[in-house]
Amino acid sequence: MSNQNQKKSVEIEEPKGRLGVLLVGLGAVSTTFIAGVEAIKRGIAEPIGSLTQMGTIRLGKRTDNRVPPVREFVPLATLEDLVFGAWDIFEEDAYEAALHAGVLERDLVNQLKSELQAVKPMKAVFDQHYVKRLNGVHVKQGANKMELAEQLMADIEEFRRANECDRLVMIWCASTEVFMRCTEQHDDLESFEQAMRENNICIAPSMIYAYAALKSGVPFANGAPNLTVDVPALAKLALDQGVPICGKDFKTGQTLMKTMIAPGLKSRLLGLHGWFSTNILGNRDGEVLDDPESFKTKEESKLSVLEYILQPDVYPTLYKDFSHIVRINYYPPRGDNKEGWDNIDIFGWLGYPMQIKIDFLCRDSILAAPIVLDLALFLDLAKRAGMRGIQEWLSFYFKSPMTAPELYPEHDLFIQLMKLKNTLRHLKGEELITHLGLEYYD
Ligand SMILES: NC(=O)c1ccc[n+]([C@@H]2O[C@H](COP(=O)([O-])OP(=O)(O)OC[C@H]3O[C@@H](n4cnc5c(N)ncnc54)[C@H](O)[C@@H]3O)[C@@H](O)[C@H]2O)c1
Repeated sequence: MSNQNQKKSVEIEEPKGRLGVLLVGLGAVSTTFIAGVEAIKRGIAEPIGSLTQMGTIRLGKRTDNRVPPVREFVPLATLEDLVFGAWDIFEEDAYEAALHAGVLERDLVNQLKSELQAVKPMKAVFDQHYVKRLNGVHVKQGANKMELAEQLMADIEEFRRANECDRLVMIWCASTEVFMRCTEQHDDLESFEQAMRENNICIAPSMIYAYAALKSGVPFANGAPNLTVDVPALAKLALDQGVPICGKDFKTGQTLMKTMIAPGLKSRLLGLHGWFSTNILGNRDGEVLDDPESFKTKEESKLSVLEYILQPDVYPTLYKDFSHIVRINYYPPRGDNKEGWDNIDIFGWLGYPMQIKIDFLCRDSILAAPIVLDLALFLDLAKRAGMRGIQEWLSFYFKSPMTAPELYPEHDLFIQLMKLKNTLRHLKGEELITHLGLEYYD
């Protein structure tokens, strides 16, 4: 149906050929993602939780009845087009790693054995200084960090050639690195490259992967809270190379809940005295986060969410000085099946106190896998649509969304979704949806 208000659409290259998805880290999230895609391709499972596979998008007026599936509205790679590659510090292939992670039932993993065994990790760039609780054996050697980046670029080209990929994307699904701040070495590319050649401690392994991706023209997403690509030198490199980037830290579990509930409290002007969040989890991620330096990276990522949503400066009576505490406890018996408790002390009319308790028995990797899929497909779309640098419209998927330096991040899940869908409408020259709706009453 034609749309009278149709604007000019953005030119988007058609997704021809294969899309290689390069995963840094072949642990719980990566193997749950790969096994999931293979199971869906075989028709033995559904892509629950994936906006690209199950989502729809309303176009035009509410009375127009135009609600196509997202994947028919914008030209996305199909699941059949995907090929997987990975790096890890352990030699286990995706079959062994999936069994080790223990997220999916052994039966399902066995049904997908041949597809999973085909994904064998390449040697990683790793340094225990940045992830204290792991000790890698399947690791590259190099005279300096620049040389390691060159080895990664060679891996990327070899993967592209061997798998006849038309396009590639890279997603960091590896362990959380220690907390790092942006330093002068991260300011511009020249100092960044100099620091790589000098083996400066300010260049973490995740930054070496991101650098290699960008230099190779490969879009990069950061699923962990590490600084990684969120530094001026790499953001500028992404712009110059015409490559989209996004991050940080997949929004799953407790923070997902927080960004659903906090906007609701604020919209009804209910006050907050405090929000106490605690978790028990027993997977390798939990073990890594048991190290205070890796936990600090995660904590920063989790803590900022409420401040930004509730805006204590704008609403001091409601949100000044609320206490916000987040704890993660490594408790092996739970494996990947985390339990997250929230105690929320709120207050209403005349200051009367109330409490909300949440006990979320969640499965981290089950929530993260569809995010990996959507990010792979949307980053590839962004690249084909000529979008480059930070992709704020993908904030929907992250706990600490990357933004332009002068902007604060948008954390409200519902604003994030609107931003994402409006970006898709914009790409296709469709009217943006404001929800004003006065036209129905003229
Ligand atoms: N599952 C979730 O809900 C969720 C949410 C947000 C963020 N994350 C982040 O995603 C990442 C992956 O989570 P997971 O549960 O799969 O963890 P995991 O420990 O099961 O897997 C991480 C893998 O990365 C590997 N690794 C570590 N450093 C590496 C390096 N330098 N190069 C290559 N491989 C490396 C490890 O050996 C491990 O196999 C973690 O950083 C986690 O904090 C997960």
